[in-house]
Amino acid sequence: MRRPIHRREFLGTTAAASLSTLAIGAAAARPPGPKRPIVVASANGLKAIEKAMEMVKQGRDPLDAAIEAVAIVEADPTDHSVGLGGLPNEDGVVELDAAVMHGPTHGGGSVASLRNILHPAAVARLVMKRTRHVLLVGEGALRFARAHGFPEINLLTEEARQIWLHWKETRDPDDDWVPPPPEAVAAFVPEYIRKRVTGTIHCSVLDTHGDLGCTTTTSGLSWKIPGRVGDSPILGAGLYLDNEVGSAGSTGVGEANLLNLSSHLVVEGMRAGKGPKDAVMDACKRIATTSVRDPKRRRPDGRTTFDVKFYAVSKDGTFFGGSIYPGGKMAVHDGDSAKLVDCEPLYDTK
Ligand code: GLY
Repeated sequence: MRRPIHRREFLGTTAAASLSTLAIGAAAARPPGPKRPIVVASANGLKAIEKAMEMVKQGRDPLDAAIEAVAIVEADPTDHSVGLGGLPNEDGVVELDAAVMHGPTHGGGSVASLRNILHPAAVARLVMKRTRHVLLVGEGALRFARAHGFPEINLLTEEARQIWLHWKETRDPDDDWVPPPPEAVAAFVPEYIRKRVTGTIHCSVLDTHGDLGCTTTTSGLSWKIPGRVGDSPILGAGLYLDNEVGSAGSTGVGEANLLNLSSHLVVEGMRAGKGPKDAVMDACKRIATTSVRDPKRRRPDGRTTFDVKFYAVSKDGTFFGGSIYPGGKMAVHDGDSAKLVDCEPLYDTK
């Protein structure tokens, strides 16, 4: 498969800017504590969670660790669901959503429909730390990021543009866009056209003091209506934590989480005494029950038209990944090694 953008090439040109912007708003390290740290993330965070674990072992803040982990994926042009290289909206413009929550202060911040900024999760941390607000959107979020010195870049990579253009040229036989000749279609395009990209990265960190931090960052649903905001920047929907209880986040089609505030539901389930497994599976059942009341979210067999996945860790370090349909994975670092584990599905067939 041809990849017009090469990761090493890209990292060479942007690494300096990325590192400096990630330092803005980060907390000072403290001596590591005695507890076993745990990092959980969506499957695309397998490599990134090594970074988070390394940082918490050095006594760094759990949210800062989560932000630096997801920054690796935000800067990876080969991940078409997050940051640079994310698939754009229907107009061909990449719009990012991200949020953070910090356990020790119960702080939270988020940005939505943010354009041209490589690390939206780091901007969300500044909304939390350097404003009295929680959520900034669109032009206001961009101006805020600029004010803090974040450089602007074009997030639409050549590969993402080619995928988007193919979608645009083939979506409606009655419009005036003409499909490209088959020989002009790059080999990588069809796989992204067949299935709409709904990925995202979530990362929750339990540090060596038993403190929690989490973030969710995404380019959102591919080909979305411009201005569409998903669950990722909405506290309670795409992520939630309570430092006394646990942390949870989600990936997949965000509308279901907006309609059920599912990450809050998972944390509240843990507060009520459920383990992460029961709390997550109850959230999946809730979504499966409520969503199918709307015909546009219901398949002919009565199940949901979409999937969502949850990643949760409780204050005591128990973790769990669950989903509506089978096939999902969660990345986990237990302090010894990073691995992918299966998400337990609500339904055992797709
Ligand atoms: N869960 C990401 C989105 O729906 O935008």
